Amino acid sequence: MADQRCIGIIGCGNMGFALARRLIRSGFTVLMGSRDAKTRPHINVEITSIIECIERCSIIFIAIHPEHYTTTLISPLDQNPTLFDGKILIDVSNHLNNQLQEDELSNAECLQAGIPKAYVVKAFNTISSFVMESTTAGESRCVFVASDHSLAREKVINLAREMNFESFNNGSLRTSRHLETYTRSLFPQWKLPIVIVLCVLFVWSCITIYMRFIKKKTSWNQIFLYVINGVLCSSAITLLALVYMPSNLACIFQLAYGTKDRRFPIWLDRWLLCRKQLGLLTYFIGLCHVLMTLVLISPAYYSSWFHPTSVLVSPVRNETKFIVQPGLMTSKGELASLMGILTILSMSLLALASIPAIGNLLNWKEWRFVQSKLGTLTLLFAIGHVFAMAVPRWVTLKSWRIVLTIGFICVALPVLTILLKFIFWLPCFDRPIRRIRRGEIRKQTV
Ligand code: HEM
Repeated sequence: MADQRCIGIIGCGNMGFALARRLIRSGFTVLMGSRDAKTRPHINVEITSIIECIERCSIIFIAIHPEHYTTTLISPLDQNPTLFDGKILIDVSNHLNNQLQEDELSNAECLQAGIPKAYVVKAFNTISSFVMESTTAGESRCVFVASDHSLAREKVINLAREMNFESFNNGSLRTSRHLETYTRSLFPQWKLPIVIVLCVLFVWSCITIYMRFIKKKTSWNQIFLYVINGVLCSSAITLLALVYMPSNLACIFQLAYGTKDRRFPIWLDRWLLCRKQLGLLTYFIGLCHVLMTLVLISPAYYSSWFHPTSVLVSPVRNETKFIVQPGLMTSKGELASLMGILTILSMSLLALASIPAIGNLLNWKEWRFVQSKLGTLTLLFAIGHVFAMAVPRWVTLKSWRIVLTIGFICVALPVLTILLKFIFWLPCFDRPIRRIRRGEIRKQTV
């Protein structure tokens, strides 16, 4: 009978040895299986033939490349058909492709199909050999465990815990298709938000360059801070509106569909799903604007925020006297700064609440309150920040020319977003939306 505390590892590569060291540290006995056991270096671990390793252990890690599964594991079944009966095989491999087609099998599924009598479990493939050996590395320590055999899955979950990893039940072996490609994808949830941010930055760069260089003849010396700051602030408020707009669109669609069961159009679905990442990027851009402003803030750059410096020349005794007024801010400058500070503070709270460790401390109602009500307040502060700067200018302009100012262009979308938010908070809209979200069907769906 196989020793329950003796774990087998087939494969003597980096991952195989890292697993061996980790298992030994966790109090297990390890037996490694290799095609040429005699030539392998010894690390206080017994190395034997692959067949002997399988025969002596009930739980075996498969740490060889998937292209060798057939020759190394499946072919020996011809001579010994019962070799793997009842054995738990932990497949730690990853797929070479970034994405699998609908009909393509994962490495673990191929292994299970080749050895039907074994209990194949997909696990540990998201842990690198570096993290496997390290006790301090701050990388991911989550082990996702997938298998069609619930008892085997439970055993591997417990084994991972004994090895000091957090382990999660990932469901059936079919989910290994996602697990095997997961490690190969580069920031998958950030792609769409980054594209949106780049598009917004591009549009605002064009508008700002036109306004600052073609209309106003700003010096090119000011391109690195003053002009870029202009692009960043306008982009930040547009992006903030883009974070809160999709929930309004979701209300419109749900009212139109009359049910929560019909799916939103794919573009809205993806937009709703990327709001967290979009919000964090917006926060980063807003923070850049604040830091750049801190460097620039002076009457030389923002003259309308400060009282003009006056020089008094005394004509009485033919002597010149200079009185320089301290550069105090005007009420417009102070109000705009206050609104800006409130905006960045509430954006910081929103960003903090989106960190899982902090968000998990809130219940659902608290989390929704922070993200929805505080989010709306942030947008209001940002609009107040722009109004404090733009309104004094707007009153001096002819009505239609207001539309051509940067202040008007950048505030239009946020104001529309806020108006829609308030409209959907009215009881005549809020009640039917709540009923639809509780499952009521108000219209026959197509
Ligand atoms: C400590 C906080 C802040 C300060 C001191 C501040 C300061 C300024 C200054 C000096 C300007 C004029 C820039 C220029 O004309 O080139 C400005 C414009 C602007 N800021 Fe801020 N800001 C702050 C925070 C924010 C935040 C967090 C946002 C966005 C969400 C924001 C959005 C804007 C917008 C949209 C404009 C353009 C307004 C216009 O041109 O009419 N600001 N801010």
